[in-house]
Amino acid sequence: MKGQDQLLDIIKRIAAGEYSDEIFQLTQADYPQPIRETAEAVGMMMVSIESREYNLELLFRELKENVLKTVLGMANALSARDVYTKGHAERVSRYGERLARRLKLDDEETEHIRIGGMLHDIGKIGFSDRLLSNQDTRPDPEMLAEIRTHPIWGMEILEGLDFLKPVLEFVHSHHERMDGTGYPRGIPAGDLPQGVRIIAIADCFDAITTTRSYQQGQSAEAAFAILRKLAGDHLDPELVEVFIEEINKGGLEPYANTASASE
Ligand SMILES: [Fe+2]
Repeated sequence: MKGQDQLLDIIKRIAAGEYSDEIFQLTQADYPQPIRETAEAVGMMMVSIESREYNLELLFRELKENVLKTVLGMANALSARDVYTKGHAERVSRYGERLARRLKLDDEETEHIRIGGMLHDIGKIGFSDRLLSNQDTRPDPEMLAEIRTHPIWGMEILEGLDFLKPVLEFVHSHHERMDGTGYPRGIPAGDLPQGVRIIAIADCFDAITTTRSYQQGQSAEAAFAILRKLAGDHLDPELVEVFIEEINKGGLEPYANTASASE
């Protein structure tokens, strides 16, 4: 029968998720009635499935946004406990995103880096009051051990959120170093995703250029010298140079001195 093989072929492709208007060509008058009716029914079914899939996708996107907002709310709650974290996560996120864009990473990866920057220190929410109120430059060994757990706590907080999987690795590994002497796992450069190496640079740069209880914020030039010193053992040397280029071109992220503002 005319159009029979063509109809079967199109139905198979629709079943495989390949939706196109081709099916409606078989509803034209020059095809036999059974072919026309089948094509019309399958075509209507295809349109209805397509629209349900679209709605589901919208719903999922909205759900993801809401979960993300909740998690970011938790990250913001941390800044209420730790004045020096205030603004840090946003700046690390923006520096990370800028470096990702300069490296021409794709939109999805750039978005993961942006979210990773926002959430990298979320595990600090579990810090004790003793640690958060410490004004001493040198934390004692017990405090150091507590500090070193925050990437693990961060990962555990976000673990159940499947769509944040790539971000999880950034949170878990942002204190790892190129030479494998970082924490919590001490994994070497070869095992560190690029996003982790990007966030590590953004994190260091913001820590150096902002004023904290134990230091006065330094200039961008002084920070560049420190980043270059850390390049190799600690930070990715190639990314450090691209990052410096980006800061020279786009400048520093706005920063309010929260340390003195709170006094
Ligand atoms: Fe951290």
